[in-house]
Amino acid sequence: MTRLQDWMDKEGEIILRDIGIQKGQQILDFGCGTGVYTVLASMIVGSSGKIYALDSDKEGLLGDLISKIKKEKIKNIEIIKTSGEIEFPLSDESMDVVLMYDVLHLLDDDERNKLFKEASRVLRKEGFVSYHATHRGGSEHFKLEDIHNKMKTNGLYLNTEFKRPMFHWAWIEDSLIFNYSKESI
Ligand SMILES: C[S@@+](CC[C@H](N)C(=O)[O-])C[C@H]1O[C@@H](n2cnc3c(N)ncnc32)[C@H](O)[C@@H]1O
Repeated sequence: MTRLQDWMDKEGEIILRDIGIQKGQQILDFGCGTGVYTVLASMIVGSSGKIYALDSDKEGLLGDLISKIKKEKIKNIEIIKTSGEIEFPLSDESMDVVLMYDVLHLLDDDERNKLFKEASRVLRKEGFVSYHATHRGGSEHFKLEDIHNKMKTNGLYLNTEFKRPMFHWAWIEDSLIFNYSKESI
């Protein structure tokens, strides 16, 4: 079994549970792409939960997720295809988790700020944002400190840092994941 296959079959789900994904949660997966994390999360939340898989599909990745949902008859994933605007068709305080996995580097400063504001709006009081911090220190030029500060400005407080092997694009790499709570603790 390859490392990637092993991660997909076992480790990925264990890691998402460690990060705080639980049965029954309502989750927004912002920039879901091919939906690797969407599908894993959907298995954990089960029929009493739901994943809103939002993507502008600029990279043409959403087709993979749509095919998988049809093929495996997955009932608890709803696709939200947008034009890239940072505005979610979701009610205030309706989500338990907002995933921001491997996506922040694709947004500019202004868009990231809007995203954190929208995430804060849709999260329940006990909810959290989970950020998979990819592409740091590359050509994108944004610092973790800036992300933590901008999250805080929007009422999202750094709570836990995880070091885990994570799926990134087509491989598994040692990664940092940061959770931010809506309430300061
Ligand atoms: C590199 S993929 C990451 C996919 C997935 N989250 C993962 O970790 O495997 C980034 C995704 O973010 C989406 N994206 C980029 N900007 C977006 C925006 N403004 N609104 C919604 N989705 C966006 C892209 O279309 C792409 O599918």
